[in-house]
Amino acid sequence: MAKAFIDILKAVEVEQQQRQAIVLALRGDQGLLEPVGTSPMPGSKADFGPLAVPAVRATMSAVHRNQRYRYRAMDYDPYRPEIIADPYPAYRQLRAEDPVHWSDKLGGWVLTRYDDVKEALHGQRFSADRATPFADHMAAKDEPEIARVGRMLGRWVVFNDPPRHTVLRRLLFEAFSPKMIDGLRGQIAETVDALLDDLTGRDRIDLVGDFAFPLPAIVIAHVLGVPERDLDQFRAWSSDLATLVGNARATPDRYRRGGRALLALTEYFEGVVAERRRQGSEAALVDRLIAARDTDDALNEDELVANCILILFAGHETTTNLIANGMALLLQRPGQMAALRAEPALTAKAIEEMLRFETPAHSVVRIAAEDQTLHGKDIRRGDRVFVMIGAANHDPAMFEQPEHFDIMRKPGRHIAFGYGPHFCIGAHLARVEGRVAFEALLRRLPEMSFAEETLDWIDTLVLRGLRSLPLVRTPLAA
Ligand code: HEM
Repeated sequence: MAKAFIDILKAVEVEQQQRQAIVLALRGDQGLLEPVGTSPMPGSKADFGPLAVPAVRATMSAVHRNQRYRYRAMDYDPYRPEIIADPYPAYRQLRAEDPVHWSDKLGGWVLTRYDDVKEALHGQRFSADRATPFADHMAAKDEPEIARVGRMLGRWVVFNDPPRHTVLRRLLFEAFSPKMIDGLRGQIAETVDALLDDLTGRDRIDLVGDFAFPLPAIVIAHVLGVPERDLDQFRAWSSDLATLVGNARATPDRYRRGGRALLALTEYFEGVVAERRRQGSEAALVDRLIAARDTDDALNEDELVANCILILFAGHETTTNLIANGMALLLQRPGQMAALRAEPALTAKAIEEMLRFETPAHSVVRIAAEDQTLHGKDIRRGDRVFVMIGAANHDPAMFEQPEHFDIMRKPGRHIAFGYGPHFCIGAHLARVEGRVAFEALLRRLPEMSFAEETLDWIDTLVLRGLRSLPLVRTPLAA
């Protein structure tokens, strides 16, 4: 009986998705094609993010400039509300018509095809150090405070190339090995249960604020060795930092706000390091990094503090998005929700499909390390390149019916955790948290539905996630 019901729900859902695919296909032909001349001229003061080099370099050759004009027909603007809400029609168009797209708005190239994205993440031809050019640029603009913030970000492992990257990565990697993380499973399950206990009996919740944010934040605080009582403060700092790192255009004063948060976090972790040194603690990641610093001189004091901040930041923003995006996907597709409730063993597969479909770390920035030509476009050394992981994960050349969310899809090829030397250190931890969270959410949370008609997506290009996800208890049918 239950199976027949699930089959009916699935059939309705497939029909809904087919209808949506037709609408999207029609929409894909419009919207982005604007008359040439509406976007800023090359050389205009396009604003660029912290992980960037200047949008228009004074040294740009005439040939290079002409190429940009030629391709301005497709005026991709990732900050338009409709694209923030649903970026996939734009990706489809870019992949098909302009896979190496110059964006005046972003001041960089946009890669959307799976193979190109993978190659950019893996290859030697692109550098991960986008913080140094940003700091240099801000220093040249007489913005010493923001330049300082850029230099601090430059110590994060993720913004380093070998050989420094190799050293820093090895130091952090140990703490996130599958063996270490599997040892945390019990504590993760307890945290999930405690958070769900607090939701018992409530008719309205915000899945982000009440669950998806605190869970990974508590877990990462534990791994790092910082007290849970500081989590609210972390949340404020971290969301301010996200506007800087993620280049949230709609947030006024994002450099200063994000910079202030980074300075506050630095001061906080300097205090933690001093305290743990004094106590001679040994259990947490901070302690290992202190030992690596004090015993082997493997990293300097600034790198120690900077990478604690990175772990705190990377360890929860993305996992929060995995949980909230995943729940939104299931709520939009009752058939798949019912199938998962009926067969919790599918959770691991479902998590992989959530990661593919609404990729939480949506794009990363690279800097071209050499002149190169890709699909006929000349990318110059120093150019900024937006590597669109979220678009790659919807490439039909790699995924059959990519716009179809299917928890039964054979997992394995998405690149939501990146690829190559910077492959996510926390991938196993995120997967374990996701599995434990969804198994418990679907078992313990009563039937809920969306409380609002629209989803409130954050406006950064780097992270794809929801500001909040208000849900109400679904009334029982009369
Ligand atoms: C769903 C959750 C997560 C997603 C989607 C995700 C995604 C990614 C991606 C795409 C990268 C590559 C960045 C690049 O190539 O520039 C990355 C790197 C990284 N992630 Fe995650 N991440 C997640 C969770 C975590 C967690 C829980 C941690 C906790 C420690 C973490 C720590 C890191 C670190 C330290 C790096 C830098 C690795 C390096 O540069 O070698 N991530 N992540």
